[in-house]
Amino acid sequence: MKRQTALSCAAVLFAVTAVAHGAGEPTPAERAVGYRQSVFHVIAGNFGPMAGMVKGEIPFDAKAFALRAERVAFLSTLPLEGFIPDSRVGKTDAKQEIWDNMDDFKAKMESFQTEAGKLAEAAKTASAIDALKPQFGKVGQACKDCHDKYKED
Ligand code: HEC
Repeated sequence: MKRQTALSCAAVLFAVTAVAHGAGEPTPAERAVGYRQSVFHVIAGNFGPMAGMVKGEIPFDAKAFALRAERVAFLSTLPLEGFIPDSRVGKTDAKQEIWDNMDDFKAKMESFQTEAGKLAEAAKTASAIDALKPQFGKVGQACKDCHDKYKED
């Protein structure tokens, strides 16, 4: 058992080293793009089912909604660190305006965090979807406010 653990650790180490030194070694900027896009994917993966409940396409499940809202609130704290300087590289939809207006971009990220936090809080006690619709709308608006200005469509 011990030996097996040691072997798998070696395998993981080898894999990590192989990635770091492989032919397609990503630059820090490329890694940052992958990081922020991955986070947004997971955000959207949790946001979508909530939107389905808001639209009545999916039956309201208070527990599932609360869990997804909590995830989005946490995930909203992550994308900013992926917007490092000079990371408008490769396949990215991030506009140059982000780095030209970083204070405003940060403010938009913060209002997303605030609204997502309020949604998670409200979802803890809500027993009907109607009670969550207005706050869900505010979170959706926060996505849109930022995308309209800073994301290519
Ligand atoms: C403060 C700005 C900001 C906020 C808030 C924001 N986004 Fe984005 N989002 C971006 C930017 C910029 C990109 C482009 C990233 C890239 O391609 O490098 C993006 C990309 C995405 C992508 C595409 C990811 C990919 O693989 O290309 C999805 C999906 C997405 N956002 C969903 C959302 C959702 C859903 C919300 C709200 C719940 C949200 N975003 C909130 C700025 C924001």
